[in-house]
Amino acid sequence: MKIAIIGTGYVGLPTGVGLAELGNQVVCVDKIAAKIEALTQGKVTLYEEGLEELYLKHLKSGALRFTLDMREAVNGADVVMIAVGTPPHPVTKEADLQYIYAAAEELAAYLDGYTVVATKSTVPVGTGDEIEAIIKKVNPAADVDVISLPEFLREGFAVHDFFHPDRIVIGTDSRRAREVMRRLYAPFADKTEMLEVSRRSSETIKYASNAFLAMKIHYINEMADFCEKAGADINEVAKGMGTDSRIGRKFLNPGPGYGGSCFPKDTNAMAQMGRKFGAMLNLIETTIAKNDERKLEMAKRVAAAVKHNPEAKIAVLGLAFKGGTDDCRESPAMQILEKLLHYNRNVTVYDPQAMENARAVLGDRVSYAADPYEACAGADIAVILTEWENFKHLDLEKLKAKMLQMQIMDLRNLLNKEEVCRQGFCYSCIGMKN
Ligand code: UGA
Repeated sequence: MKIAIIGTGYVGLPTGVGLAELGNQVVCVDKIAAKIEALTQGKVTLYEEGLEELYLKHLKSGALRFTLDMREAVNGADVVMIAVGTPPHPVTKEADLQYIYAAAEELAAYLDGYTVVATKSTVPVGTGDEIEAIIKKVNPAADVDVISLPEFLREGFAVHDFFHPDRIVIGTDSRRAREVMRRLYAPFADKTEMLEVSRRSSETIKYASNAFLAMKIHYINEMADFCEKAGADINEVAKGMGTDSRIGRKFLNPGPGYGGSCFPKDTNAMAQMGRKFGAMLNLIETTIAKNDERKLEMAKRVAAAVKHNPEAKIAVLGLAFKGGTDDCRESPAMQILEKLLHYNRNVTVYDPQAMENARAVLGDRVSYAADPYEACAGADIAVILTEWENFKHLDLEKLKAKMLQMQIMDLRNLLNKEEVCRQGFCYSCIGMKN
């Protein structure tokens, strides 16, 4: 099939690459000339495990192309996927749909033959109706079905998730559109649940899923606070809860609060929708407020650990909003760091992937290290803020030799407490008496 993808961000690019690998002809279109130029020349514009290799393969084979020209992308396409951003409005926190509507208006003119326009971006319930109305207004003769096709890719694991989806949700009542989607996703038919639902249900599924996961994280963080007071161990509690298949082990890792470009945005948008439709979503409202508070609490915790020494050097390990990505948007690590800088200015940071993005925000307010050991050289405390896999395997002997004070605050519970204490470190983590 010929597929057009509008937007080459964290959703659009991995989706385009994945669909090319499935044997489709994919044309990705974007408004940012520098991005299209880089992508045309073989320079991948974002970090995702396994993405570059597949992208280069299909750039070379010709199955994957990039353009600034909407006509070139949309003309003759069987499916047009809208994967542009829906950033939160700075005041109302509602999803800002201007890029979606602009894309709908522009693409409408170039539709020819029967086309499925699928919204991959996360959009409020009812947006599909608006997109359809815009397309019909611009091009009343268009033979088109507008469907909701939500994306469940996790950043950092987008390529893996693309090829191993838990489910594919197809939101439309149109039989023709369902048929096209069944053909497109036929390679997954044997192993993946294909849910055919109404467009509004599909739009809701995306928000309800993200909000539930955010709530699950908030829940385990609240339990962690409880365990600290009650003398229980959150790691044991999470394991004990998670082995119940109705609860599940995933998303029960306590931490400094959730972040990223999805959960904060989508929980706020969902709460906003609840208010708009007159169905208050109290659990989600609480989750948002408590998750915001938590980051301040964590910054205070770090500051308190070195309060006897205003000159203390703090080594921050991890800046990305989670492991496996270079993305710092709404990163708890960055938000904690910003708050921490009010108490202490002597901070050195390290992240395996996110240094460049972090530097654009932090500038010269912190020092930058080339590896965790350099970050910890002469430090009074090392604070782990992002769940990078390689932080689990820090060479404690080496760290010991570098640090001024042997103090580790592990806000992701990555390290083995017994091992770290045995090495003589003063260790604190989340959800257990320290
Ligand atoms: C999330 C969803 O997991 C994806 O299914 C969805 O497609 C995506 O949003 C989206 O809407 O586009 P993502 O934002 O990439 O994916 O990140 P997650 O892996 O969900 O992590 C979000 C945050 O929760 C991170 O800050 C992470 O550190 C935190 N987290 C996650 C925890 O604190 N504990 C956990 O147990 C899991």
